[in-house]
Amino acid sequence: MDVEECLKEWEDLLTDYKRLETVNKQYATKLEEVGELQATCMKELNHQRYRMSVITGALRRLDKKGKGSSKDERVANLEKEIMKRKAMLHEIEATLPKQNSLYLKIILGNVNVSILNKNDKFKYKDEYEKFKLILSAIAFVLAVMNLYIDFRPLQLILIFLLVWYYCTLTIRESILKVNGSRIKGWWRLHHFVSTVVAGILLIWPQNEPWNIFRHTFMWFIAYISVVQYMQFRYQSGVLYRLKALGARHNMDITIEGFHSWMWRGLSYLLPFLFGGYIFQLYVAYSLYQLSYHPEATWQVSYLAGLFLVLHCCNMYTILSTLRKKTKGGLKLRYKLRAIAYRLSNEIAILEQKWRQNKVENKTE
Ligand code: COA
Repeated sequence: MDVEECLKEWEDLLTDYKRLETVNKQYATKLEEVGELQATCMKELNHQRYRMSVITGALRRLDKKGKGSSKDERVANLEKEIMKRKAMLHEIEATLPKQNSLYLKIILGNVNVSILNKNDKFKYKDEYEKFKLILSAIAFVLAVMNLYIDFRPLQLILIFLLVWYYCTLTIRESILKVNGSRIKGWWRLHHFVSTVVAGILLIWPQNEPWNIFRHTFMWFIAYISVVQYMQFRYQSGVLYRLKALGARHNMDITIEGFHSWMWRGLSYLLPFLFGGYIFQLYVAYSLYQLSYHPEATWQVSYLAGLFLVLHCCNMYTILSTLRKKTKGGLKLRYKLRAIAYRLSNEIAILEQKWRQNKVENKTE
């Protein structure tokens, strides 16, 4: 290129730059609009919740006085509608940005971790499940190796991996929670407690009690890794079915299908989960007995206590989850319907965009 050509190119580029500037201005205006719309949605959402709480309170008071007995058809219908609306509000809230929890603020600072697109949310959840699966596979291999090889660095690698794994899970789960996951508090706390357990194991000196306990622990890790694989199959099945639910038109049939699949999946998984909890109890008991060993250090009794806590809270949470799933059938239906509604909306928007692009491409 000579100087003349360079100048001509530069002139050409100027018109392109003008186009970029215009698009960027549009983008900035839209961003501002989005911010305003988000604030309005938040205000309306709080308004809905406040008025619903007033209505619920009034119904409760009427029920106590015996005036609004749940046998009254109007009251029963209203309660159903409130349940439906609650599920819808949860789905609407999931599309709005949220403040980080204190834990995330401490670890990540005030960076925004809200994922506003439902598809990206699914992807993030999917990655979380795959991450757990891969790490469990590695833990399984290391545990089996440790069963056959008595090599301290190999034991430390596994235990250190567990500390890192559980720490990472607590962060990922906090991000999921910010993004509207209904994950129960105990499952998150469970991973905090597991981090402490792995930390204590890391500093347990290599003495006689450790040598006695080592094998039980490695079997336990191997077993938990297998259970984790089962959980992965169940959770990814749930995830893909939820996605499919939004893509269908006849929601009732697919919701029924989802329901029956969920129970089939659970009946396959639950025996393994209960097996894991019994194993936890056995580990707690073995550690308790070991705590009487003359060489036992403080780690042994602390770990016995922590394993017992894990066993009891896991049992309690899983039983209450099952109770809710059996008794709260209607609530679950509304939750699924709300998710499906939101997803079908998003799919419609995507389809519309796709058609628009197609038309634009043709006219060009
Ligand atoms: N870890 C992470 N997330 C969990 C979870 C767990 N243990 N249990 C449930 N969740 C999530 C679900 O994925 C769902 O997320 P979403 O709102 O983003 O869709 C949400 O919490 C609500 O789930 P819920 O409907 O209550 O239960 P579920 O049908 O998804 O799963 C169980 C029920 C019992 C299968 C599941 O809780 C589980 O596997 N628990 C056992 C965990 C355990 O004990 N691990 C140690 C093995 S010894």
